[in-house]
Amino acid sequence: MQTLVCKQFGPLDDLVMEDQPSPPLGDGDVRISVTACGINFVDALLCEGKYQIKPPLPFRPGSEVVGRITEIGTGVTAVAVGDRVFAPVGFGGFSDEVVTSSMRVLRLPDAMSDGQGATFTQSYLTGWFALVTRAKVEAGKTMLVLGAGGGVGLAAVDLGRALGLRVIAAASSADKRELASSKGAFATIDSSTEDVKERAKELAGGSIDYLYDPVGGDLGVACLRALGEDGQYLVVGFVGGIQSLPANQVLLRNRRVTGVDWGAWVGRHPKENQQMLMSVLEWIADGRLNPVEPAAYPLSQAVQALKDMQNRKVAGKVILVP
Ligand SMILES: NC(=O)c1ccc[n+]([C@@H]2O[C@H](COP(=O)([O-])OP(=O)(O)OC[C@H]3O[C@@H](n4cnc5c(N)ncnc54)[C@H](OP(=O)(O)O)[C@@H]3O)[C@@H](O)[C@H]2O)c1
Repeated sequence: MQTLVCKQFGPLDDLVMEDQPSPPLGDGDVRISVTACGINFVDALLCEGKYQIKPPLPFRPGSEVVGRITEIGTGVTAVAVGDRVFAPVGFGGFSDEVVTSSMRVLRLPDAMSDGQGATFTQSYLTGWFALVTRAKVEAGKTMLVLGAGGGVGLAAVDLGRALGLRVIAAASSADKRELASSKGAFATIDSSTEDVKERAKELAGGSIDYLYDPVGGDLGVACLRALGEDGQYLVVGFVGGIQSLPANQVLLRNRRVTGVDWGAWVGRHPKENQQMLMSVLEWIADGRLNPVEPAAYPLSQAVQALKDMQNRKVAGKVILVP
């Protein structure tokens, strides 16, 4: 099988595409012929050794796949050969074939394309965890989403609208802002030219209630000040750098800062995560949620796709197609 391997932490150019023997199938496993592997910002961080978790080397990146089951191991009854499934495999997804436990795979609803199926898990479960479990958002309130044209941000726009929030989307390019509007943002801000904090306050009619922040850095610090009384800052990610938040600005207006660490929470709460996944799938199947159709790169262009995502060239999500 073709698979991307990280042999040492460092630049993405050090990643190598290898031809490896097909992995053996254990009891309870399924073999999947991959049709789409989703890319997340975290994949690049992991390969560069910049993520909080450092897998033992060598490792094979890629956490979400969709494909057809080609073989099942002893004792597998829930799925069958030929089923179109998605699998949050954790590692090894940037491959044309994966072997994983049948417990991890689910049939993909007809409503979803292969690309959507390979790209929604991390972004939508992070968003659901942040907005429903952590923030307990109330319909009718206003949320500003930073990095709203990226994977995590765009999912938050879609979820926010579905939960009845008034969503303002900040993004640096016209195509990202258009995508955010198409997912239900009532207004957008050009984060490359406008003062995001001031513009968000104007658009919200005074102040915002929630700040969904996968970007961090100076932009995150500035936008904290757009939150009104009891406003909540959701700390989701740091693509723009890890920010220090001024405590006086948290005290003022009784603001709250809420950490969102879905990635680590999943490991401790697999049952709750499965319930969340089923809720997200139900909302996608009945049309309440509408994950973006991703851009596609050939699997052989995996490094280029990772670089384009890191360099902010991607609007929405990206998949690798074997
Ligand atoms: N807390 C959790 O449990 C959790 C779960 C999943 C992911 N995350 C984190 O969420 C963050 C976003 O992930 P993602 O998959 O949405 O990434 P993404 O698709 O690449 O989107 C990130 C967006 O951030 C903006 N950005 C601003 N400054 C940037 C910079 N210096 N470099 C790159 N992008 C920059 C870009 O939008 P503009 O060009 O419009 O500025 C880009 O579209 C990552 O830090 C990831 O680790 C957290």
